[in-house]
Amino acid sequence: MKDIGYYNGRMDALEHMQVPMLDRGCYFGDGIYETVLMSHGTFHDIDRHIDRFYQGTADIFLTVPYTKQQLKELLLWVSSHSEYKEQFIYWQLTRGTALRSHAAKDLSPNLWITITKASLPDFEHTLKLISVEDRRSSYCHIKTLNLLPNILAASQAAQEGCEEAVFVRNGYVTECSHSNIHILKDGVLQTAPADCHILAGIGRFNLICACRNLQIPVLERAFSYEDLLHADEVLLTSTTKICQRADTIDGHHIGGKAISLVKKIQRLLTFSEIASENTPSIS
Ligand code: PDD
Repeated sequence: MKDIGYYNGRMDALEHMQVPMLDRGCYFGDGIYETVLMSHGTFHDIDRHIDRFYQGTADIFLTVPYTKQQLKELLLWVSSHSEYKEQFIYWQLTRGTALRSHAAKDLSPNLWITITKASLPDFEHTLKLISVEDRRSSYCHIKTLNLLPNILAASQAAQEGCEEAVFVRNGYVTECSHSNIHILKDGVLQTAPADCHILAGIGRFNLICACRNLQIPVLERAFSYEDLLHADEVLLTSTTKICQRADTIDGHHIGGKAISLVKKIQRLLTFSEIASENTPSIS
């Protein structure tokens, strides 16, 4: 099989899978999700993704009916049925199945897993961005299924021929619709603090580790839209982008002034380096 779907023990080709209409994920987005890259049998940062998943489920009072080890083994088992060498593994746990009622009581959670084809990012490719006002809630640190503002922003970016939308809250950059954003200025990496306005990305974590490893100072402090316009480089991180440069926002040229430093960082973040556990731990 290639694209695979799994739902509560049932597994089939993704296009043949169906889920119950009464799954609370369908009408309330009541659940938590994660995504992981797998390349040639190695999961990229699986333990960090699993830890964040358990933290997110705890934050919304959802109990995972598996141990971390059981979940990891299940993900590996489902992934082993796909022919793809590079896979995008997505899973979500929803609160359960019941007639639509806001208050949930005594439900058994539903586990969804999908395996689709992944391709590793091209670091030579630079991204085009737009900015949008960040009107999201203060639950951005939780990886919930409620992504309406994110998908609207991403769709607007795509309609304008761009690849990402940057959220700006009161003049300060928070993150993007589905990635974190950072600036390099005078040899310092600056990134918004991991508070309730951003998702603490695993890609962000790896970038901070790589910078510390390269003796690049890291400042976890909010930066403004103006700062972004005048940065030496603007970097986006996520599970799928790993670490890519941006070159345009709202039609203005940005970055491009510290390309060799970015290349050093990207080399440290390449999949093979990370997969072989060479990433230094954060201190
Ligand atoms: N998105 N911020 C948001 C809002 C995100 O949705 C993501 C990831 C990130 C980066 O997180 P990480 O480095 O752990 O991937 C930041 C994933 C890829 C998605 O929704 O598919």
